[in-house]
Amino acid sequence: MKAEKKTKYIIANWKSNFTERETLQWVSTFISYDFPSPLGSFRIIICPPAPFLSLVREKTKHLSFVQVGAQDVSFFPEGAYTGEINARALTGFARYAIIGHSERRYYFGETERILSQKCSEATKNGLEPIFCVRGAGDNIPSHVRFVAYEPIEAIGTGNNEPLQKVLAMKKNLRLLSGTYFIYGGSVQKSNAGEYLNSSEIDGLLVGGASRNPQSFFEIIKQYAA
Ligand code: PGA
Repeated sequence: MKAEKKTKYIIANWKSNFTERETLQWVSTFISYDFPSPLGSFRIIICPPAPFLSLVREKTKHLSFVQVGAQDVSFFPEGAYTGEINARALTGFARYAIIGHSERRYYFGETERILSQKCSEATKNGLEPIFCVRGAGDNIPSHVRFVAYEPIEAIGTGNNEPLQKVLAMKKNLRLLSGTYFIYGGSVQKSNAGEYLNSSEIDGLLVGGASRNPQSFFEIIKQYAA
């Protein structure tokens, strides 16, 4: 009997891109694809900019293997914090929230204290944090179940980190058992299979290549193939 394939999490991080129209185009194209079976072997998590969470959720809700994630969450609870999007508000649309992406750390000065508060706001409200680290120097808040390792040199550069180095970092991170380990950084069709077919890696966080539905779909197929 064929061994059952381990579930892999393939996450699309659109970052700050797309209009409503472009979102609609992306989703309509994506859901028209013939998804490989068995569907149980992967989960796709689409993380659009906040204004399009509802649209993406609505258009994909008939696909049980597709879920929606936020790219960030406020470290404040509900209240008088103009402009913030709190975790409770997000739960209506999203199951996951990316927290601690290096772009948030760098451009928005998010500190470990802020990030750990974001994680507790998320989990308190039933959102699953996907916590990003740049390396072993970044603390991982307790109760985080999804850790995405994203080396800065690999993000958006075309220089994905070789599998062996990623696995060495996984050891250094000393993750608690039961933690899902995700890799991100210049993932594309040509290198996705190597990570996805490693039993040590539970999924991929895809930036640039997720902006095109066809190239994102090709990445998914590298595992299911
Ligand atoms: P990239 O981005 O795939 O464009 O390198 C990954 C990320 O920043 O999450």
